[in-house]
Amino acid sequence: MEVLWLISYCACSLCLLGRICAVSHCIRRSQTLIDGESLASEGGTFELGFFSPGSSTHRYLGIWYKNIPIRTVVWVANRKTPIKDRTGVFTINSTGSIVVTSRTSGDIWSTNSFKDAKSPVLQLLDSGNLILRDEKGTNSDFYLWQSFDYPSDTLLPGMKLGWDLRTGLNRQLSSWRNSDDPSPGELRNGIELHEFPQAVMWKASKKYFRSGPWNGERFSGAPELRVNPVFNYSFISNKDEVYYTYQLKNKSVISRLVLNDTSSSRQRYVWVEADQAWKLYASVPRDYCDTYDLCGANGVCVISDSPVCQCLEGFEPKSPDSWNSMDWSEGCILSKPFSCQNKEVFFKFSELKLPNTTKSWVTGTMNLQECREACFKNCSCMAYSNSDVRGQGSGCVLWFHDLLDIRQVPNGGQDLYIRIEASKHAGIHVVNAVLISLITMAVFFRLVLLCYYLSWRKTKVRGISGQVDRTSEGPKEDLELPFFDLATMANATNNFSLNNKLGEGGFGPVYKGILVDGQEIAVKRLSKSSGQGLNEFKNEVKLIAKLQHRNLVKLVGSCSDDEEKMLIYEYMANGSLDSFVFDQTRRKQLGWSKFFQIIDGIARGLLYLHQDSRLRIIHRDLKASNVLLDAELNPKISDFGLARTFQGDQCGDNTERVVGTFGYMAPEYALYGLFSVKSDVFSFGLLLLEIVIGKKNRCFLHPHHHHGLIEYAWRMWSEGTPLALVDSSLKDTSSMLEISRCIHVSLLCVQQIPEDRPNMSVVVLMLNGESTLPQPRQPGFLRDVMPTEVTSIRSDTDSCTANEITFSSFGAR
Ligand SMILES: *[C@@H]1O[C@H](CO)[C@@H](O)[C@H](O)[C@H]1NC(C)=O
Ligand SMILES: *[C@@H]1O[C@H](CO)[C@@H](O)[C@H](O)[C@H]1NC(C)=O
Ligand SMILES: *[C@@H]1O[C@H](CO)[C@@H](O)[C@H](O)[C@H]1NC(C)=O
Ligand SMILES: *[C@@H]1O[C@H](CO)[C@@H](O)[C@H](O)[C@H]1NC(C)=O
Ligand SMILES: *[C@@H]1O[C@H](CO)[C@@H](O)[C@H](O)[C@H]1NC(C)=O
Ligand SMILES: *[C@@H]1O[C@H](CO)[C@@H](O)[C@H](O)[C@H]1NC(C)=O
Repeated sequence: MEVLWLISYCACSLCLLGRICAVSHCIRRSQTLIDGESLASEGGTFELGFFSPGSSTHRYLGIWYKNIPIRTVVWVANRKTPIKDRTGVFTINSTGSIVVTSRTSGDIWSTNSFKDAKSPVLQLLDSGNLILRDEKGTNSDFYLWQSFDYPSDTLLPGMKLGWDLRTGLNRQLSSWRNSDDPSPGELRNGIELHEFPQAVMWKASKKYFRSGPWNGERFSGAPELRVNPVFNYSFISNKDEVYYTYQLKNKSVISRLVLNDTSSSRQRYVWVEADQAWKLYASVPRDYCDTYDLCGANGVCVISDSPVCQCLEGFEPKSPDSWNSMDWSEGCILSKPFSCQNKEVFFKFSELKLPNTTKSWVTGTMNLQECREACFKNCSCMAYSNSDVRGQGSGCVLWFHDLLDIRQVPNGGQDLYIRIEASKHAGIHVVNAVLISLITMAVFFRLVLLCYYLSWRKTKVRGISGQVDRTSEGPKEDLELPFFDLATMANATNNFSLNNKLGEGGFGPVYKGILVDGQEIAVKRLSKSSGQGLNEFKNEVKLIAKLQHRNLVKLVGSCSDDEEKMLIYEYMANGSLDSFVFDQTRRKQLGWSKFFQIIDGIARGLLYLHQDSRLRIIHRDLKASNVLLDAELNPKISDFGLARTFQGDQCGDNTERVVGTFGYMAPEYALYGLFSVKSDVFSFGLLLLEIVIGKKNRCFLHPHHHHGLIEYAWRMWSEGTPLALVDSSLKDTSSMLEISRCIHVSLLCVQQIPEDRPNMSVVVLMLNGESTLPQPRQPGFLRDVMPTEVTSIRSDTDSCTANEITFSSFGAR
């Protein structure tokens, strides 16, 4: 009887226990978890125990995913105080603190004491949260303590990033120092409390990236948060709490947000079951414009522009000299201070990330009109905006100081109204009006021309004489160039026969042709299907028609029919440079001295583009296949489809994107879309290396040299054996001194920091002079990340084998 009672009692308390927490899923007072044991969450999602990170032997108490083969730690208790041996113990001690102790060093980590709890129990939940409850307390569901309140580097679904204003608790993420050391590294991420709170990332206690204020829908500068298949999120801001949190839409998806010191970014990973690997889903900062305060006060960053920083309308650079040399830190000041005599107006800017809100004022009760009036009344108010963009928009934010850290966020930004002096604005109107009427006139004029041209074409029957219309009496595509008709071109190229085809250019096939007067030409034909090509075509016509230099390929004329568009160039008898550089036999034939003349010619051509031409042009796609050789082997730079003038061509229809040939682009250009003459200098340096080494950068995928030719050259240089780079076919014929000078110059050209690279006038001097050259610094390796901004990479038709010569431009075999 007694025994039976006992048994039933045990069974009952067991089932009671099981309901609250299965034995292996919790720790009670006086129970311990020692090094080597672990505690799993009920559903087996997470596990708690002692571990050693990376290659370290130190022991830490942490939580990691139990159902993932790659050990991924999401929380660490004793981040700063590792245990040096395996004597660690985790427990609730008799005075009610959660502690990690070790036999050798005593308590090394602990929480407050919860001594009032009658029956404290520690439990790991399937969310990854380690919680302390009082099983027998009045509210057994209340968490006395939870690990989610003390985040490490990882924000799991359901965690809160931000403030509990009642207790003053501020939950921030901080990165691990490195994969061996979970102690706090340089990066921190949290919510900055102001009237209008904003999410901020700090790096070594300086602001590094600002997601911007919450606008009811998302953080103002975080378009990637918008509707996505993986997670939904919200931002809570009331008198008790201010925090951000997210939840996964599909509970069987595993995803985490982590601050990463190595990459200096906040990354979102998603576990891909099929690959058994974490896949990077998103990462901030996204690009150069995300750099905090890049453009200084009252500047705006536009990633597609070059340079990326501009002053806001109505402002001008505070120090024009440093601004023009791309030091934007001093920012912009009002072109004309406010007179505050009701002469100002507000200028609407769209698609922006709102400026920093450290000192701004916000109210939810005003509409946009009232907001405007409030701003107008106060002379120090600089700008206003809706605080909530949902629906029609509501609420009001006012800025009273310089506007900081603004960028353009295409398809994700919002409207900002900035105060400017009315006279200035009126001025804009006048200019606009004049411009508009000019444009209208131009369009009208073109229409007249077109009509005239069409009727002229109908009436005037041109014999297929093939005579170039050198007196250029015919219609022109706004350039002073001879115009050929389609029949002439068809005749000259044998009806665009395959036998005449020289190769494929950036936007279509290239044919050899002979005019009736015997002149040899190369005809670049724009393929009809290519939309991108049309822009490149127009660009090339516009630019090259105005250029004249012995090292630039010469445009002879153009042909533009209803359907067909063609460019006609002088014919280059020796084809493109790559057919010499990458072919052993032809390299030998040519010999170093000829190569050197070619290098010098390219440098001079580039110098002309950068400095001496009226237009000042950045080529953006310099490579061996874009350099052509005439009958005397004089080099001529070609393919201006991607080139841009410095001032930024306002009437061009390029929405500026990273374009060019991957593998030839300077790192700052490939990664951040930042191009300048110095990115051309980089490409020139790389071309120089290719000539000396005789291998293509793209094809130099050596297992030991991940970063291609440049890394290889840098290594040899650092080891003091640069001449080991020189390919044998050049060795015997050449002057080693000149070659070693070329290697030196090339390494100066490919330096990581654009400002360190010499400009082309200096390069020309260096190549020809005898002076001592400066020591090159670390070159820019293009890491093997794919840049997010690259939207149009030219497919490089160059092949990797030397005997299979392809022509990516026009020229002869
Ligand atoms: C429990 O841990 C706390 C924090 O380390 C400590 O102050 C307290 O003395 C410990 N209690 C006992 C009985 O060891
Ligand atoms: C995500 O969506 C679900 C269902 O619509 C909702 O219950 C939950 O509160 C949302 N989570 C967040 C963080 O917004
Ligand atoms: C959730 O994810 C799992 C695994 O990726 C997938 O099989 C399932 O179809 C998803 N469910 C929904 C509702 O999308
Ligand atoms: C940090 O980023 C690097 C490279 O992007 C990656 O290899 C590493 O696993 C990341 N670390 C964490 C903790 O996710
Ligand atoms: C303008 O606003 C600032 C900041 O809120 C305030 O300090 C100042 O008193 C206001 N000035 C006037 C004239 O209202
Ligand atoms: C934020 O912007 C204000 C002007 O709105 C500026 O005065 C302040 O210095 C900025 N604060 C920080 C920390 O950047």
